[in-house]
Amino acid sequence: MSRAGDAPRRPLRSPLRRRLIGAALVCVAAPAAVAQSWAWDDGTVPFVVTPDEVVDRMLRIADVRAGDRLIDLGSGDGRIVIGAAQRGAQALGIDIDPTLVERAGARAQEAGVAARAQFRAQDLFDTDLSQASVITMYLLPEFNLKLRPRLLALKPGTRVVSHDWHMGDWRPDETIELRTPEKPVGLGGVSRVYLWVIPAELRGRWRAEVPGHGGRWEFGFEQQRQEIQVAARADGRELVVRGSRLLGEEVKMVVTGVVDGRPWNHLFKGRIAAGRISGEVLVSDGDNQRTLKWTASRLP
Ligand SMILES: C[S@@+](CC[C@H](N)C(=O)[O-])C[C@H]1O[C@@H](n2cnc3c(N)ncnc32)[C@H](O)[C@@H]1O
Repeated sequence: MSRAGDAPRRPLRSPLRRRLIGAALVCVAAPAAVAQSWAWDDGTVPFVVTPDEVVDRMLRIADVRAGDRLIDLGSGDGRIVIGAAQRGAQALGIDIDPTLVERAGARAQEAGVAARAQFRAQDLFDTDLSQASVITMYLLPEFNLKLRPRLLALKPGTRVVSHDWHMGDWRPDETIELRTPEKPVGLGGVSRVYLWVIPAELRGRWRAEVPGHGGRWEFGFEQQRQEIQVAARADGRELVVRGSRLLGEEVKMVVTGVVDGRPWNHLFKGRIAAGRISGEVLVSDGDNQRTLKWTASRLP
């Protein structure tokens, strides 16, 4: 990570920690160990900027656009918020340091996006996240883990993007890695960008209707965060399911049934909203294919 232009205003935890930063300049250490090396005495995160090309990738991976409401947790000089506002989003930066909030506001004015880029001096843990469609952060692993339960409770489909640091065993939906040789701290010359999309609740049994395709369809979903396992039955027969994926409110899976010795693949794609799934299913036996509508509702 590139250390910001201004000098750190608070001492690091110990001279040993300062040496660890030096070590981070020249070697790639385990992420957790490196992360420790640049926490402040009080366990907060110092101001270190995200390089511009990484900001761009963070906004692109979350597909930030007009209509989005982005919150950057620990907004520093405001670059992520300003980038989001330049893409047409309403963006809010939260930072504990009022001088950074003032600086970020001035930069937003200069960039001509002050109407869409706001900044607030506040502890990020006291911030209401419920209206956000995108959350960005460049913090530390322990901050991410502390935020995790609140992030998982956000509206399904909300995108969460973290620069460099993961969320423990909550697997990201997408990860990219960029070479950032100018970055003197962090992962040693690379930046990672992680994306999570808050998953909808799918767990349980669902009765599906595929008008024009007969039969009684039933799906059973087991779920841990976005990881799903699917069991499917048609007219009481167990079917093979593969390629299942839950991304926010979108579910897809391939269900194969054998009719008169011929395998029929069903590529189900659906959107989960208000306790229902609706979407399209592409039915194919290799020679013929057709697309049908499908819906599903929860079984008690
Ligand atoms: C690593 S910098 C990231 C700055 C900016 N988001 C970027 O990526 O360029 C982390 C920022 O979090 C702020 N911060 C640290 N602890 C915070 C807290 N508890 N609440 C709000 N901001 C905090 C720091 O002041 C710092 O500006």
